[in-house]
Amino acid sequence: MANSSKRPFERWQRVSGNVVIAKLRLLKVFADRLFGDFRLTWPQLDWWQDATFNAYLDRFNERKHPNTHRRWMVRQLIRLTGDVPGDTAECGVYKGATSYLICEANRLNGRFKRTHHMFDSFEGLSEPLPVDGGHWKKSDLSIAEDVVARNLAAFEGSIRFHKGWIPNRFGEVADRNFSFVHIDVDLYQPTLDSIFFFYSRLSHGAVLVCDDYGCTTCPGATKAIDEFLADKPEKMLSLDAGGGFFVKGCEVAP
Ligand SMILES: C[S@@+](CC[C@H](N)C(=O)[O-])C[C@H]1O[C@@H](n2cnc3c(N)ncnc32)[C@H](O)[C@@H]1O
Repeated sequence: MANSSKRPFERWQRVSGNVVIAKLRLLKVFADRLFGDFRLTWPQLDWWQDATFNAYLDRFNERKHPNTHRRWMVRQLIRLTGDVPGDTAECGVYKGATSYLICEANRLNGRFKRTHHMFDSFEGLSEPLPVDGGHWKKSDLSIAEDVVARNLAAFEGSIRFHKGWIPNRFGEVADRNFSFVHIDVDLYQPTLDSIFFFYSRLSHGAVLVCDDYGCTTCPGATKAIDEFLADKPEKMLSLDAGGGFFVKGCEVAP
């Protein structure tokens, strides 16, 4: 009885699964024409229907943006640090979308009262070096500090802006330890300066994410991280949608 009542649902699941496969095949024909070897994602992902997360994406007008996978991953990775003492930081803030996620997690954390520190020129990127390739130019991704302050107004009192060229303002947090650090400055030199400064200040179990790691648009950022970690026990775990992370104190095979 129970089995026969389940059958129509199972049949419907099978049919709708085949429809999804047919649609993906069609999409792949177009995607391959446009990009060569393009790899699609299964659309049956429950996080695509997560109302809270979608509301967050809408706040930054990002629901249809290719960054959504990385936003979701950051939201998951922060959860590893619930019991890790320390403040949080972001190097390269732009409109504040990732800082918003970090601040939300800080607010929900009942154990620690954390301050979130944000480092950005608010004048866009610094001058790329030859190692950075040709994708970026100076002043790209420039945004005014007051726009970001408005985006993060809900967290006033627990956030600090450190406007300036990295690493000039790092000294202001030299006495702090950190539970979560997000590096997203696209280029070799500020990525190297950021990991150099924050690595020794990460608490045991802290997570460091580099948004640009493994992205072919940011070869300098990937190189900076790999060079710095070459003699450290931690190595970057490269994520499928771009970006990477390590956990302080967690040894990883090269
Ligand atoms: C890709 S955006 C950051 C995006 C942001 N993390 C997010 O999640 O939306 C890069 C940011 O890095 C900043 N930036 C790049 N190079 C910098 C440098 N040398 N010093 C300070 N800020 C820098 C830019 O101003 C820009 O806001």
